[in-house]
Amino acid sequence: MLPSLLLFCTLLFAGFEADALTYDYTASCLENPHKPQYGGGIIINPELSHGLRGWSTFENAKIEHRVLSGGNKFIVAHSRKQPNDSISQKVYLQKDKLYTFSAWIQVSDGNAPVAAVFKTTSGQKHAGAVTAKSKCWSMLKGGLNVNVSGLAELYFESKNTSVEIWADSISLQPFTQDQWSSHQDQSIEKTRKTNVRIQAVDEQGSPISNASISILQKKLSFPFGSAINKNILTNTAYQNWFTSRFTVTTFENEMKWYTNEPVPGQENYKDADALLQFAKQHSIAVRGHTVLWEDPNYIQGWVASLSPRDLAIAVDKRINSIMSKYKGQLIAWDVVNENLHSSFFESKLGQSASASFYNRAQRIDAATTLFLNEYNTIEDNRDGLSKPDNYLRKLREIRGFPGNNNLTLGIGLQGHFSNPPNLPYIRASIDILASASLPIWITELDVANNFGEQAQAEYLEQILRELHAHPKVSGIVLWSALAPGGCYRMCLTDDNFNNLATGNVVDKLRQEWGSNSSEGTTDTNGFFEASLFHGDYKVKISHPTMTSPFLAQSFKVVSTDHRSEQTTLLLKV
Ligand SMILES: *[C@@H]1O[C@H](CO)[C@@H](O)[C@H](O)[C@H]1NC(C)=O
Ligand SMILES: *[C@@H]1O[C@H](CO)[C@@H](O)[C@H](O)[C@H]1NC(C)=O
Ligand SMILES: *[C@@H]1O[C@H](CO)[C@@H](O)[C@H](O)[C@H]1NC(C)=O
Ligand SMILES: *[C@@H]1O[C@H](CO)[C@@H](O)[C@H](O)[C@H]1NC(C)=O
Ligand SMILES: *[C@@H]1O[C@H](CO)[C@@H](O)[C@H](O)[C@H]1NC(C)=O
Ligand SMILES: *[C@@H]1O[C@H](CO)[C@@H](O)[C@H](O)[C@H]1NC(C)=O
Repeated sequence: MLPSLLLFCTLLFAGFEADALTYDYTASCLENPHKPQYGGGIIINPELSHGLRGWSTFENAKIEHRVLSGGNKFIVAHSRKQPNDSISQKVYLQKDKLYTFSAWIQVSDGNAPVAAVFKTTSGQKHAGAVTAKSKCWSMLKGGLNVNVSGLAELYFESKNTSVEIWADSISLQPFTQDQWSSHQDQSIEKTRKTNVRIQAVDEQGSPISNASISILQKKLSFPFGSAINKNILTNTAYQNWFTSRFTVTTFENEMKWYTNEPVPGQENYKDADALLQFAKQHSIAVRGHTVLWEDPNYIQGWVASLSPRDLAIAVDKRINSIMSKYKGQLIAWDVVNENLHSSFFESKLGQSASASFYNRAQRIDAATTLFLNEYNTIEDNRDGLSKPDNYLRKLREIRGFPGNNNLTLGIGLQGHFSNPPNLPYIRASIDILASASLPIWITELDVANNFGEQAQAEYLEQILRELHAHPKVSGIVLWSALAPGGCYRMCLTDDNFNNLATGNVVDKLRQEWGSNSSEGTTDTNGFFEASLFHGDYKVKISHPTMTSPFLAQSFKVVSTDHRSEQTTLLLKV
């Protein structure tokens, strides 16, 4: 008698012991600020309900407690003459903790960027910034960690000294490393995995106990990849190393305009074609990078010297050329690269030039997600140009262009890290961006080697774990294309494809996210249960009563958005 298999896919939400203190993913200008997150954490008098208790003057501001007509109490720094004339509070920061920070900020007039800064024994640490407005409260959300324990002074800084800085609902919440990684685990269980229940029954429908079940992952759904360049085309060792690891890629330079049209009218897609062909052969998805790049340093000479009228024609031709050529064959287009830092095209063609490029792009390849691609949004919170609220402002500007209200947009965060990562800030900035409800991809992740090979690998691991665990991150691409001269900033292997410490991190995490070790036996009711990462699987069942050594069947684990939903698959064997 041959057993048949029943497979139930159901999301079970018991079984995970969440820490008492959960992480708050919300962010947003409101008439009244929200309550401070985590009750204010270690901030004294976070809602200013006890006058100025706990608060003092920083540098030479005058500070004041005020109440709005609706009863809302807050603190004000006025008569400011230098950026750091402010309010402040002393806090004790511990080196092994991760701190989330949030505050609701308003300025007295117009709008002005305001940063939250901690003056510590080892220098100023930025926790985040927001462009605060007058007449409504903006949430500044960020975080920090310190490498030395000690007293610190929190203050708010704005270069515009003619505005008063108002603050309310200030929160600084420490988390232990254990609590932090427990939030990651919790989020992974919820967003990346599904609990799968398999039942073995015989032909009469009676459960078969003690059957051996083994579940093998064939493909992970979460897109995880790395950049490549034309060198891979002639290097089989590189090809083997790459294709056994990654499911998505970006071409380092082969789809850039300066590569495709170095001389006007002489288009060259040879390398891009060959790379795309290679990727297709191995079922590797490709992000199109990049239709246009705003940085004047990467504009080829002939383009830089065009009159605005001729530039408009050349740009239109460029967009049309590359996008028609690869239409429908890519999973993403970086339409405009680094527009928050540079604006070559806007400076020549007008302020709405970028928005018009997206409009054009959509008309050519409407089915592919169109990304803005930027650096420093998650990796350096001192860079005000690409801070999350500026990113959102740019998205609104693009969407506001006539005919752009239906754009399929995506958020591309490069992730070129030069300093030890600030995980609470990474998480907070993605929370803020998530309010746009668009797919968020990490597009060019690397870590500089400033701190030695071991630290580079350690930071890479911390960043990858944080990003993969964030519920709103849809995919990650590393920026480690190998060329004979090395990599841009971070290689994963040496020239012979032996892993470096960074490559070991990548393999360790691939193994972990592959959740490869689901093996066991069915219980007395014939059930076997496992929590599996979304992906393609093969399940094998064997039992002493079976004539053949085992029966195998493939199945796919997908996310179940509705908790009560239960999918039953009958596996015909
Ligand atoms: C405040 O900023 C000024 C420069 O604007 C600087 O000289 C001073 O050291 C800063 N004060 C503190 C306490 O950091
Ligand atoms: C500073 O803010 C005031 C009030 O909004 C505004 O009038 C002024 O232009 C701002 N100054 C700078 C340098 O942005
Ligand atoms: C802490 O970080 C600062 C830079 O932010 C660095 O100069 C210092 O050496 C570090 N100290 C330790 C103990 O790592
Ligand atoms: C379960 O099966 C294994 C062999 O697959 C056997 O050694 C073991 O005794 C069985 N246990 C029970 C409780 O039937
Ligand atoms: C945008 O989408 C809405 C709803 O899906 C549709 O009614 C409208 O025609 C679309 N507009 C354009 C310009 O495609
Ligand atoms: C699964 O894990 C085993 C042992 O840890 C290992 O030998 C095997 O290569 C892994 N399989 C996959 C597909 O990763």
